[in-house]
Amino acid sequence: MNLFSAKIDELLRQINEANHAYYVLDNPTLSDAEYDRLMRELERLEAEYPQFITSDSPTRRVGAKPLDEFKTVTHRIPLLSLDNAMDEGEIHDFAQRVLRGLTSDENIVFVAEPKIDGLAVELVFENGVFVSGSTRGDGMTGEDITQNLKTIRSIPLSLRRDKIPAPKLLEVRGEVYMEKDDFARLNEQQEKEGKPLFANPRNSAAGSLRQLDPQVTAKRPLSIFCYSLGACEGHTFSTHWEFMQTLPQWGFRVNPLIERCAGVEELVAFYRKIESIRNTISYDIDGVVFKVDSLAQQTELGIKSRSPRWAIAGKFKAQQEVTQILEIEASVGRTGAITPVAHFQPVQIGGVIVSNATLHNQDEIDRKDIRVGDWVVIQRAGDVIPQVVKVITERRTGDEKPYRIPPVCPVCGGHVVRDEDEAKHRCANINCPAQIRGSIRHFAEKRAMDIEGVGDKLVEQMVDVGLIRNVSDLYYLTKAQLLTMERMAEKSAQNILDAIEFSRKTTLARLIYALGIRNVGEHMGKVLEKAFGSLEKIQMASLDVLTSVESVGPIVAQSIRNFFDEPANVQTVRRLLEGGVKIEATERPSEESPIAGKTFVFTGSLATMTRDEAKDLVESLGAVASSSVSKKTDFVVVGTDAGSKADKAEELGVKTLNEDEFRALIGGISK
Ligand code: IVH
Repeated sequence: MNLFSAKIDELLRQINEANHAYYVLDNPTLSDAEYDRLMRELERLEAEYPQFITSDSPTRRVGAKPLDEFKTVTHRIPLLSLDNAMDEGEIHDFAQRVLRGLTSDENIVFVAEPKIDGLAVELVFENGVFVSGSTRGDGMTGEDITQNLKTIRSIPLSLRRDKIPAPKLLEVRGEVYMEKDDFARLNEQQEKEGKPLFANPRNSAAGSLRQLDPQVTAKRPLSIFCYSLGACEGHTFSTHWEFMQTLPQWGFRVNPLIERCAGVEELVAFYRKIESIRNTISYDIDGVVFKVDSLAQQTELGIKSRSPRWAIAGKFKAQQEVTQILEIEASVGRTGAITPVAHFQPVQIGGVIVSNATLHNQDEIDRKDIRVGDWVVIQRAGDVIPQVVKVITERRTGDEKPYRIPPVCPVCGGHVVRDEDEAKHRCANINCPAQIRGSIRHFAEKRAMDIEGVGDKLVEQMVDVGLIRNVSDLYYLTKAQLLTMERMAEKSAQNILDAIEFSRKTTLARLIYALGIRNVGEHMGKVLEKAFGSLEKIQMASLDVLTSVESVGPIVAQSIRNFFDEPANVQTVRRLLEGGVKIEATERPSEESPIAGKTFVFTGSLATMTRDEAKDLVESLGAVASSSVSKKTDFVVVGTDAGSKADKAEELGVKTLNEDEFRALIGGISK
């Protein structure tokens, strides 16, 4: 075999292995940097030796051209639907029917699974290689969405065959879905870009999968749980459980909550258990599915029209309710953004009483034609945050009032404006008390400066009486001033001062996030901290410099520039620092850093980097770089011409490393 083809094979193996660990086992084995390096190497070799490119190469996941339309495919074996059991009684009925339908009266074993609220797809593998995939469609024919499915990292492009050989033909069915968090993030993004919002994770998974351009699908965080078998040649199973146990060995992702149940009591227990944890699961489910385990018994029971007699869906109560909108309020946020919020007659959904829901922006209100007085369907799907699904127009009486966001700010009377490319209206008055209150609440938040005791009520009072005009004023508060606030006793005033004092020591990432720069969230705070290391550097950075940082796009860069180009903001930052805010430690990097919390001392000169670079590097990985050796030092890195520090290390029994050992220790994380 050619040397390069062998090298490509090895890269394929390593990347597929890493993908499987990350997306299927949820247990990453490589750092992002290592993964990227392997992918780049593979791309480079494939560009040079295109004759060695295989259809299951990870570089082929994205890159197919947009289609004009999807082709229709006929499923070899129809994809069935399921009958529903609406409550526990109907689960008993199902078990009875199964029992009556079978000649043997042995204990019947079932497999119980969560019913994923996504989109059913079929994946076809020939000789172990993914060749095509389709939507369920009407069960008989679906659409060919092969290119889009390839972009989903938890779908193997070829089967792992270290334990079980690949069958000649294998059709696996499963549900493509989107995690609730990812759905919320996607909608935030859609909203920012002024695009229509998805109603729930299911719709956003469906919308993402039915894109004619696979590049768009590739950017959407889709995943899959596999749960049923279509055609198969070259391998036989005797139970569904056995099939479900085999899938992961071939590299498929299977829901970890599946269980084998021996009898109807266990089915009901499973139904109750899953319903009780429904809202804590990171993806939407709309019930459970029970399947007779033995494939022979499945055959014996057979199918009636479109659904099997051997399976049933135990549905959960819809997390939807109908209620009436009493009022729509324009709420002003810390950036001045105005969000219309619907207040309705309180209703209970999924055990929680809800009485309001965000309507996001004027476009959403117009699109759904939501009016004050309307009867609407409310749901808590995909998110704990309730939303208005639709208006029940049939219940309109003619008294409903269309809603428009007011032209003046409901809080300060300032002008309300809307930039052309923005979905949101905004109060243009930067001194609007709502903005000031919001920015101070955000600043004090746990994940920002973490100032306990500075809650909504207190902030509102302090802003109203003019005690605080911007966040820096917090650091100049006196006890006497605090004591003038309503219901403020000596002890709570002291607690607040202590919390403020405590917050003075902070990290750059926290401070940046706390400032409330538009489009700069917690994660971006960390990115900027890592890239720049100091507030001054961020403050001075040009647009070009900012965008050169990975994951800082033009919008974020512009927001940062806008913030620091505003003299009032620079003044606030200066007052914060003068008020005693000190950037001390850096944010703790993630647990995966092998040297987090360790102390390093560098001595002598290193061949591949300067000492300062080495210090920055270990600090970026959560370690401390110190200049003197003590018993607390974990490692002394000894370069050439090292001085007395190496001797001191020896004396104190501190571990010394040469440059190669140091690089090995920090592993693939270093440059
Ligand atoms: S089994 C005959 N298992 O529910 C077997 N379906 O109403 C048919 N679904 O179209 C499918 N989670 O989209 C099965 N664990 C699961 C499922 C599941 C979700 C969906 C699937 C199917 C629909 C049937």
